[in-house]
Amino acid sequence: MTTTDRSGRVIDRHRLLARLQELGEIGKEPSGGRTRLALTSEDKEARDRVVMWLEEAGAQVRVDRIGNIYGLVDGEVRDAPVMIGSHIDTVPCAGAYDGCYGVVAGIEVLQTLIQRRERLRRRVIVAAFTNEEGVRFAPDLLGSRVLAKDTALNDALAISARDGALVGEELQRIGYAGETSPWELLPGVFVELHIEQGPLLDAAGIPIGVVEAVQGHSWWRVTIEGAANHAGTTPMDARRDAGAAAMSLATKIMRRASDAHVPNVATVGTMTLEPNVINIVPGRATFTIDFRDHRNETLRNAERQLEEGLRELQGMGLRTSSECVSRHAPVRFDAGLCALLEALSAELGLPARRMLSGASHDAQMMAGVCPTAMIFVPSHLGISHNPREHTEPDALARGADLLLYTVLRLASDAGGRDGIAGI
Ligand code: GLV
Ligand code: MN
Ligand code: MN
Repeated sequence: MTTTDRSGRVIDRHRLLARLQELGEIGKEPSGGRTRLALTSEDKEARDRVVMWLEEAGAQVRVDRIGNIYGLVDGEVRDAPVMIGSHIDTVPCAGAYDGCYGVVAGIEVLQTLIQRRERLRRRVIVAAFTNEEGVRFAPDLLGSRVLAKDTALNDALAISARDGALVGEELQRIGYAGETSPWELLPGVFVELHIEQGPLLDAAGIPIGVVEAVQGHSWWRVTIEGAANHAGTTPMDARRDAGAAAMSLATKIMRRASDAHVPNVATVGTMTLEPNVINIVPGRATFTIDFRDHRNETLRNAERQLEEGLRELQGMGLRTSSECVSRHAPVRFDAGLCALLEALSAELGLPARRMLSGASHDAQMMAGVCPTAMIFVPSHLGISHNPREHTEPDALARGADLLLYTVLRLASDAGGRDGIAGI
């Protein structure tokens, strides 16, 4: 199945695939995964590559004060631009496509527009947002949060990493503390192209997902303190075992998600026991919880149940504390833009299905700024946040073609006639 745009407007798939592979080599580890946590030297190397490609494409490059990178091509009018883009920071030991696909395809779209001397009424911008993943600095989606005024710029610059580094200092160190105001280039419409990271499109053999909504998330760091003691001599009923308490609370949380879907999914992704020694009852346990649901009320119920669980542990003589490190309510995307994406997929001969996103994306922040939607392409077996993340080259090229076609429509005179508020 190939795209069937009769005007012959397609991206250069060889350049798209070669750049994706090249970006995927940065931060590569012997295990086959790559690690480019936000604002590290590996992130800087990837940023430098993106800037080089934008310049090669003939785009104007800007960097804003939170380090978001923009490549811009002028249109006939100065009205709010059409923005596309995603992120290039990664989780540890990541695949090559999460985020990178949306940025590299965005550059490809810009380069194709410039090479073909397409007549653009509106400006077109491709953005690479800072710290989408939120692994090194919480909260996640930081660059787009600042644009959406969900987090104030100065607060964002003062966030410290678990390794002690500050966002503002790290931006200076890697040379990406830009001077552009984050609000200078606010778009009138935003479209993010991304791999699905779940199994639905792959299983159904459907090439395009039109994303209507994104699950909300609620991330917590929980600490439980008990008393470290001798593992051989301390009777079971005399223990204040922080490790056992953390494991039992984590199990309860997972069981509620599995059995009652409160919330839809829950993950305990990290757990540290102290002193972490075979023959000492743990005196302290620290763990994280990631709750996700597309219903805000259910997310709130899960949060209430966590509070209750912590109170129960206090009643058993343990000290507890909890901190919400990131939260965002579920988001619905713009109905008119989703309908347009569906119609444009049909024009290109690409079957599409409407769907929800399980993962978080910068688009959920941008939905607070302007009409926003997302395009998904299939992920092989739905594997993501894993070096085995894979999308077929044809599928990557088709998604980028649809993005090009979408941008042409939105940036042309026709864009304003499609009933999307803001353009
Ligand atoms: C980002 O990939 C997330 O959904 O955690
Ligand atoms: Mn992503
Ligand atoms: Mn991710």
